[in-house]
Amino acid sequence: MTRSAFAHVDGVLHAEGVSAVSLAEQFGTPLYVYSRAALTDAWQAYAGACAGRRATVHAAVKANSNLAVLNVFARLGASFDIVSAGELARVLAAGGKAENTVFSGVGKSVAEMREALEAGVKCFNVESIPELDRLNAVAASVGKTAPVSLRVNPDVDAKTHPYISTGLKSNKFGIAFDEARAAYRAAAAMTHLRVVGIDCHIGSQITEIEPYLDAVDKLLELVTQIETDGVTIHHVDVGGGLGITYDDETPPDIGEFVRTVLDRIESRGHGHREVYFEPGRSLVGNAGILLTRVEYLKPGAEKNFAIVDAAMNDLARPAMYQAYHGIEPVVQRDVPSHVYDVVGPVCESGDWLGRERLLAIEPGDLLAVRSAGAYGFVMSSNYNTRGRAAEVMVDGDKAYVVRAREEVRQLFAGETILPA
Ligand code: LLP
Repeated sequence: MTRSAFAHVDGVLHAEGVSAVSLAEQFGTPLYVYSRAALTDAWQAYAGACAGRRATVHAAVKANSNLAVLNVFARLGASFDIVSAGELARVLAAGGKAENTVFSGVGKSVAEMREALEAGVKCFNVESIPELDRLNAVAASVGKTAPVSLRVNPDVDAKTHPYISTGLKSNKFGIAFDEARAAYRAAAAMTHLRVVGIDCHIGSQITEIEPYLDAVDKLLELVTQIETDGVTIHHVDVGGGLGITYDDETPPDIGEFVRTVLDRIESRGHGHREVYFEPGRSLVGNAGILLTRVEYLKPGAEKNFAIVDAAMNDLARPAMYQAYHGIEPVVQRDVPSHVYDVVGPVCESGDWLGRERLLAIEPGDLLAVRSAGAYGFVMSSNYNTRGRAAEVMVDGDKAYVVRAREEVRQLFAGETILPA
């Protein structure tokens, strides 16, 4: 679907109407490249399926927080899901609105609560009783009432990588299902909180719909109990997590996913409630690639290595989750192909982008790392004192730098040495 924004034309990979070779020449490598059309298509898939239903889509800022990306969504009428005051500042700077923003996250600070209350966010997704207490106190101190939803842990198995599975009892997220009803009673009794909804987020890169339906059923069961206690639940937030195709995964199509969830909620007699979605990866993942240049080809006794100029500091997902990203030559060439591990220049054995890839390449060639739009740039670091990559957005036949490449002097500009 959105992958088609990046296609080979006459043997050369293009981002929409712009050749990736010219992007690399003009802006250098490593380079993140986003397609406005792909972002728009993914947004429209969600928005189209929600049209005429009581449903709202909140783009999860954490997946890609570049202002230009957020602005594309803001112009399309997006709401947002944030996890820090920093992300709130980005939403506002990109033209989003606080009143359309939900604030998730397990460790909100007093300062973050105050900022979000003053900005007027739509809802705080609260994850524990101590957080309820703190939010109530902060709201009282600024003379406001905080809208709250409790993140309930439905204890369903999202069948994804353990590091990105969040709906099981064994992880740090949410309020345990069996304690949620009491937590709602506690919240309702607090003077500066107003209960508005319920939420969950069961994990990420989920490729089946059943775990969502299981989670929805459990949440709705709880909603009925909570309302019996006299607390009204206006919205049900099902979180994010829908997977994308990195390799051969076949996640449900966005529209099918949204309709199936909404139909389930209606069929359980809860169609009068507003439903919130918080997608990240499925909005931006396949709307971005990472361009990198081959520095060296290094034949080894057991393996051949293609050493490229992008590294784990640029794209951490392979090192962190053993994640697969498609890697292909930007220019299809008639040279012998070999199996390579595609690795970066960072001094760690974990610094790899792809393993055992059959590639027809020579030093100096460009490679495109696919599906890099989500959790790519946002997770990048300056490890090994490497400036972070530039980000470019393509719109038709035009390319815009949406984040300049970091220069080395910026990297230690805030550091000082001790006096003589
Ligand atoms: N809502 C909440 C409360 C979340 O914690 C997340 C992601 C989302 C929404 C968006 O989920 P998505 O639709 O993107 O799956 N760095 C990992 C993914 C971590 C996801 C964390 N939470 C990765 O690169 O795979």
